[in-house]
Amino acid sequence: MLKKNIEDALNKQIRIEAESSQVYLAMAVWAEVQGLEGISNFMYDQSDEEREHMLKLVKFVNERGGHAKITDLKAPEGSYKSFQEMFETLLKHEIFVSESINELVHISLEERDYATHNFLQWYVAEQIEEEAVARTILDKINLIGDDKGGLYLFDRDIQQLTVTSAADISAQQ
Ligand code: FEO
Repeated sequence: MLKKNIEDALNKQIRIEAESSQVYLAMAVWAEVQGLEGISNFMYDQSDEEREHMLKLVKFVNERGGHAKITDLKAPEGSYKSFQEMFETLLKHEIFVSESINELVHISLEERDYATHNFLQWYVAEQIEEEAVARTILDKINLIGDDKGGLYLFDRDIQQLTVTSAADISAQQ
């Protein structure tokens, strides 16, 4: 059975993951409207992944005798000055999510809830990967700057780039 404060903290994370899905959905839409299909598809996939992160938490809370809360969500920014700004926002957002996961891990240890602690390890590993992918993309985008041709090539290669960096990361582990 989940302790009340653990249940509350997990429910807070459910909301954060749901809001992350909305943030990336808004980015996907914005990139699509700008005509950059590769970046847009990448963001649609990210949005789906965040929904999966949210659902995993929902199932865990309910399986442990809690009650997952489905709440209203904060509306994300719908537009950006540049792709640079968009990817900076993405990295900042992932760092915020990592901090929130770390806080949850901390609470689970304080409460000696080792089942929750064990469950959260998947999120700890996932955050390392998500931050690394966001940093890789931002580095490339910063190199490209305002160059339209560079952005066009980047849009074509983004899926490949992220697949490669995720593979590199798992090879390093
Ligand atoms: Fe589920 Fe990207 O944090």
